[in-house]
Amino acid sequence: MIRGSIEVVPDKSISHRALIIPSLATGESFIRNLSPSEDVKRTWNILEAIGVKIEETPEGTRILPGKFREAVFPLYSGNSGTTVRLMLGVVAGLGLFSVFCGDESLSKRPMRRVTLPLSLMGAQVLGRNNADNLPIAIQGGDLNGIEYKMPVASAQVKSAILLAGLNADDETTVIEPAPSRDHTERFLKYMGADIKIHGPRISIKRSELNPINFIIPGDFSAASYFITLALLHPDAEIEIRNVNLNPTRTGFLKIIEKMRCTVEIEVSSKNPEPVGNIRARTCKGFHGTEIKGELIPLAIDELPLVALLGTFAEGETILRDARELRFKESDRIKAMVSELSKAGVKIEELPDGFIVRKTTKFKPVKLSSHNDHRIAMTLSIFARLVDEKIEVEGTEWVKISFPDFFEKLEELQG
Ligand code: S3P
Repeated sequence: MIRGSIEVVPDKSISHRALIIPSLATGESFIRNLSPSEDVKRTWNILEAIGVKIEETPEGTRILPGKFREAVFPLYSGNSGTTVRLMLGVVAGLGLFSVFCGDESLSKRPMRRVTLPLSLMGAQVLGRNNADNLPIAIQGGDLNGIEYKMPVASAQVKSAILLAGLNADDETTVIEPAPSRDHTERFLKYMGADIKIHGPRISIKRSELNPINFIIPGDFSAASYFITLALLHPDAEIEIRNVNLNPTRTGFLKIIEKMRCTVEIEVSSKNPEPVGNIRARTCKGFHGTEIKGELIPLAIDELPLVALLGTFAEGETILRDARELRFKESDRIKAMVSELSKAGVKIEELPDGFIVRKTTKFKPVKLSSHNDHRIAMTLSIFARLVDEKIEVEGTEWVKISFPDFFEKLEELQG
């Protein structure tokens, strides 16, 4: 039996921005409910290394934009793509010579998608594989605005360009091939930036930012593990309170609907980010479907969970247009296909996704998290849903986004 009402970890994407963007403001900001994830700590440390003062106070995390300075050592981003990509845009705009490095996984991930537009704006960039891989050294300053058509829908790339554009001459415009999460635009607008959004075109001019006082809502991506558990479990009813419900993040709810199940949503506040409660209970009617197109970037971090929904849904579930999953903390297509296959799930790899068929017989096995927090959490939910003994190795990686994931899971199963 799964029952309970919980809050999940504060949103990681919003927490990065809640540290970075107020660091560029004209005065001190206060942020409450910052994510305790390891990724967000990397952003905090890098901001401090370039002169921002950040401290915990009884009123929340205080961010005091200081006098920026160049760090005399490499800026270590650990496992965090959001940290390095957004901070490349920030230091380019501020003209601070910087060298970025990261862990083994981050050092394999593509960075050219950010270093190319920043060099078109006038930054000089050097890095492995033609500035596609860390370590990367960047010298910006005196940037010019550009109009840039992004080849992939990526909130990290969009954010890096907009943050650089905040300190560039003329106007900077990014054009998205499909909508991606818009937390950066919301923050910039809320803090008074000269930003205009016309459909896929987002333009920004050099602006001063007002300080803010902001409470970070729960992370929808973190909530989606428990939503999946509740929907697929034979006897479950849970509530998740104070979750971010930004429509550019909740594509997973549309996927669930396409598969003929639903959750109840109650929105409590809207500005600058919609927040509310989610109630999910057992759903016996999951049907296979095809997930592709514009839904992909709106559910990008939840797509490994689609493999679980497909395992228990009638018929066949097909995921397409999701090649981007290969460039996350692990190759998430390969990781899900190889691990679920070991457990007996009927799943096949596609170049840009997978096909999974309803499976009723599983094998007891040891599965690997591929050192990826989202694979670790997805497989741990899978393990709770099947009767066979499934062990998951490398679950300590949950610390990257959701350090108390297992405590919350116990709370619901208690
Ligand atoms: C993020 C954007 C997404 C997402 C990542 C966080 C962000 O990456 O997968 O976990 O905070 O901007 P892309 O922008 O590369 O798609």
